[in-house]
Amino acid sequence: MSLPLTDIRRHFPFLNAGNITYLDSAATSQKPQVVINAMCDVYEKGIGNPHRGMHPFAEKATALYDDARQTVQQFVHAKYNDEIIFTKSTTESINLLAHSLGEDMHPGDAVLISVLEHHSNIVPWLQLKERKGIDIRWIEITESGQINSESMEKQMTDNRVKIVAVTGLSNVMGTAPDLKKISALARAHNALLIVDAAQMAAHLPIDVQDIDCDFLAFSGHKIYGPTGIGVLYGKRDLLRTLPPFLGGGMMIREVTRDGFTAADAPAKFEAGTPPVAEAIGLKAAIDWQNQFSWDDRIAHEQALLTLAQEELSMIEGLHILGNLSTGTPITNHPSPITHHSCISFVIDNIHPHDLTDMLGQKGICLRAGHHCAQPLHTALGMNASARLSVSIHTTEEEILRVRPAILDAINILKPHNP
Ligand code: ALA
Repeated sequence: MSLPLTDIRRHFPFLNAGNITYLDSAATSQKPQVVINAMCDVYEKGIGNPHRGMHPFAEKATALYDDARQTVQQFVHAKYNDEIIFTKSTTESINLLAHSLGEDMHPGDAVLISVLEHHSNIVPWLQLKERKGIDIRWIEITESGQINSESMEKQMTDNRVKIVAVTGLSNVMGTAPDLKKISALARAHNALLIVDAAQMAAHLPIDVQDIDCDFLAFSGHKIYGPTGIGVLYGKRDLLRTLPPFLGGGMMIREVTRDGFTAADAPAKFEAGTPPVAEAIGLKAAIDWQNQFSWDDRIAHEQALLTLAQEELSMIEGLHILGNLSTGTPITNHPSPITHHSCISFVIDNIHPHDLTDMLGQKGICLRAGHHCAQPLHTALGMNASARLSVSIHTTEEEILRVRPAILDAINILKPHNP
């Protein structure tokens, strides 16, 4: 039986402590008390280094670390426990793939990414292009910020695309690509599918077997867990054949003066002392959010985004991103049902940095800039936008504080004719 979302804010010490309107969960989430407690316990009650010692604290660390892996396995519905690799972040997970998959790529091979992507799913592939001379191809997006499947199909017809790497949820547009459709298309052309689920993991349930993706990455800090931990899911057969990324302790079977043999996955991809406290914190965050139903969470966010859309649309000169057809920033947001997590917008003659600085002075926290998605902003014909993002604990009252604050800011910032 799931808990209602009504008194969820009491779980977050930060939200109870002051009068902050935190509308930047897409950048990073606030942490519930149970996550903070779980991590404090690690340091207060003693911990060892997992999979390295026989003493009680090393064994405790091993048990807790393995337990966290199992929780993540269930969270993404992976078939096997050893398909879950702990990394530092989504970014590191994708870099791991670009290096390890890239070993077997050659000039003429191509990686297909979309215009929606975050830099963490662009730059590692551009680096691979520099190292290996591969091609990067781009999937264009529709007016409403969805992946254009015709554009995707066109890029795949010559069968040179070896990897398709797409976001599960845009951190700017809030649009969720149809991953099953993309997966079927990738499969039809013998390409691997990588999903960047950094934003998706906090807003939509993940089922890697249902999506039938080959790899999927997300970060702990966006799903109410700690910074410094990320996850890479990979299909078991693929992880078995992939070469390791980083070298060091624990990722080996044997080391000699002349060489080494790699351990099996997941150890093969987890060189060095792992983020034990962070894995324990991540498990606490997942267990905590499992108390709430996905239906309630999605409905709650849809209601908030609908309200935000109505409120923002009342502001003269404000354009919500989501319509590329005019070649200028947007006129109208499409039905919010296809959107999750955030709304991004621009205001005529007001720089998003100035706007969000003024909102921040009133304790209203929105992000501004290119949101690590410069190719998307370039496609939209702009350098930057402001972004309002919602989460499990956001309230209607918080959304209603935004419009008056923006109007005040416009009054101060708008250019005055002499
Ligand atoms: N990727 C994070 C964001 O979208 C930092 O804000």
